[in-house]
Formats: sequence, structure tokens, C-alpha cells
Amino acid sequence: MSPRIFITGATGYVGGQVAATMIAAHPELDVVALVRDQQQASKLKSVWPKISTVIGTLDDDEVLKKEAVKADVVLQTASSDHVPAVNSLLKGLGAGKGHFIHISGTGVLNDMSTGPGNPTEKIYDDVTDIAEIINLPAEALHRNVDDAVITGGLREKVPTAIVCPPTIYGVGEGPVKKRSMQVPFLTEAILKRGKGFTVGKGNNLRDYVHIKDLARAFVLLAEEALKPNGGAAAWGPEGYYFVESGEFSWKEVSEKVAQAASQEGKIATAEVEELSVEEALKFHPWAPVLWGGNCRSRASRLRALGWEPEGPSIWETIPNIVKFEIQALAL
Ligand SMILES: NC(=O)c1ccc[n+]([C@@H]2O[C@H](COP(=O)([O-])OP(=O)(O)OC[C@H]3O[C@@H](n4cnc5c(N)ncnc54)[C@H](OP(=O)(O)O)[C@@H]3O)[C@@H](O)[C@H]2O)c1
Repeated sequence: MSPRIFITGATGYVGGQVAATMIAAHPELDVVALVRDQQQASKLKSVWPKISTVIGTLDDDEVLKKEAVKADVVLQTASSDHVPAVNSLLKGLGAGKGHFIHISGTGVLNDMSTGPGNPTEKIYDDVTDIAEIINLPAEALHRNVDDAVITGGLREKVPTAIVCPPTIYGVGEGPVKKRSMQVPFLTEAILKRGKGFTVGKGNNLRDYVHIKDLARAFVLLAEEALKPNGGAAAWGPEGYYFVESGEFSWKEVSEKVAQAASQEGKIATAEVEELSVEEALKFHPWAPVLWGGNCRSRASRLRALGWEPEGPSIWETIPNIVKFEIQALAL
């Protein structure tokens, strides 16, 4: 029998790409996707005829447990913030034999201690700073779920890994949602406002990763999970994987977006203005976290396993992201 992979979020941006990359690399695997309804199931089957689907949500304890107990690997890409789903999946896995790979996000590192738009020094390396990373303050974004994964994995004796991406860029290849969050949200705000902007000076720093490089990281960990004793990967508290290919300041991103939007003739100038947090909040309710803080990670653990980002670079993709948003907004 082929190994069985259960994936949540396959209709999403990340999960769609993870499923696409996994199915292309391993057509021999049995991939089962959680979907909300028959319509989503049909959509997935239209592009991946071999995929199986199960109807349910992250709140369906029984469905999640039943699927997890049968799985060799569970890929939880639907949410970085859903504790009950993590608990259900770990309970199911605990009664079976599979590994758990869960998505978090470097919002957990968000640091505005120097003021919005200003850089900070601290860079978190997932090998040398692992003790600090898994003991970040309880109020940090996603931290309660990271903790549920780590403590739940130990309790249920399930090998766990947390994949913690930074800003993800690029248009996804999944069949439903293809759009990321931070750069598209900024692009939308700039197009609607008619001018580029930063929160404060915009010198705050964040890492980035291309959606396909992130998907390759999930596939690599799943491949390790399917080897005897979890292969060469770390599982449990040390199984914490940042995944980045470089670092930008939000000012650089805003400048490139404004440049591309003005070249498309959709805004009058490529200039970028500094906004206060209050002003930026008019363009998105999460503006300070999205574009005002620092999240600086280093993916040493994945690189030690042989993962290398392949790009394309974020700067190459920005004109396409701008075109995608112009089309989506029907501008
Ligand atoms: N995109 C980024 O830059 C980024 C970076 C770091 C971390 N993350 C985190 O990674 C997670 C996935 O991000 P994404 O960009 O792929 O989001 P997305 O495009 O919205 O995809 C989420 C997927 O999960 C499904 N889903 C969500 N809640 C569900 C529930 N309660 N029951 C069943 N299905 C559910 C959604 O189904 P429906 O479409 O039917 O709702 C969708 O298919 C998010 O928690 C996000 O915060 C994202």
C-alpha cells in the first residue's frame, strides 16, 4: 500500500502549492485532502484526478481524528491559529503511526520594540536559537498553537515538525486560492491609495520565501517522515523549521511596488510616503503587524537537510504581483 498523506488547506494558497508540488514529485502517494464541501472536492479532483477528499472543517474533531489515525503524514497547512484542529489531529496520529507537519508563521517573532518602521538587531536562527524560539512569550502571534503542537506531540508520542514561513511571495499554483497576504495586501493598498507608502520610515526588516520553495520544504520533510525513524530531520521540540531565502525592508518593497504600478499607468508617481501607524491602519486593520515590525529568521535547519531556495527572486515577481492585483481589483 502507498503511504497516505492527509492535507488540510489544499484549497488555499500554501496548501494548494504544497499539494501541487507533492503530487508532481510523488504521484505514487495516496493524497487525501480535507475540503469544506463537494464543490471544493470537485475543483481539486478536476486538477488532481487521483486525489481523495474528505468533507469537514478544522472544527470536526471526529473527522480529523479518523483521517489522522490512517495517515503516514499529516500536512496541516490550513491555519497557524487553530488549536482544536491541532489537538484533534495529534490525538488521531497518537492512535496511529504518522508524523505531523504544521504551518506556523514568523509573525511569532514580530518585534516593534524600536518603534514601527525601525529595524531591530535580533535574528533568530532555528538551530542556535532553538531554545529561545520555542519559549517565546505566550502572547506572541501563533505561539499558543506552536506550543499546542510541541506539547501535544510529546503527550501523544507523535513526531512533530513546525514549518514557520516568513512573507511568502509569488502567485500560487493551487487550483483555488493563488494569492499570498502581505505583499498583495500592500499592493492593493497602494493601488487604491494612488501612492506608495511605508509605516514610519519602513526600515523594518522581514524575511521572504517563494511559494514553491516553501512547498519544497514541506515535501522534503514529508519525505524524511516516510524514512525509517523520521530520516535525518529533527522532530519534536527541535523540529522547528524557518524557511527563508533572504531579507528585505518594507521600504524596498513599497518602492518596487510603486514603481511597477506607475509603469502600468495605475498610479501617477513612483514616490513613497511615510505614514504613521494611525494613517496606515486606514488601509488595513493589521497594518502595524503586516508592514511595521521586524521578523528576522534564518533557516539553518532546512539548509542542513539540503534544502536551498531556487527562486525566482522577490524583485523579479513584483511586476507580476502588481499585474495580478490590478486584474483582481478590475482597475
Ligand atoms: N500567506 C502567507 O504569507 C503566510 C505566511 C506565514 C503564515 N501563513 C499562515 O498560513 C496559513 C495558510 O495561509 P494561506 O495563505 O494558505 O491561507 P489561505 O489561502 O486562506 O488558505 C487556507 C486554506 O485553509 C482552509 N481553511 C481555513 N480554515 C478552515 C477551517 N476552519 N476548516 C476547513 N478549512 C479551512 C481554507 O478553506 P476556505 O478557502 O474554504 O476557507 C483554505 O483552503 C494561515 O494561517 C496563514 O496565517 C501565511
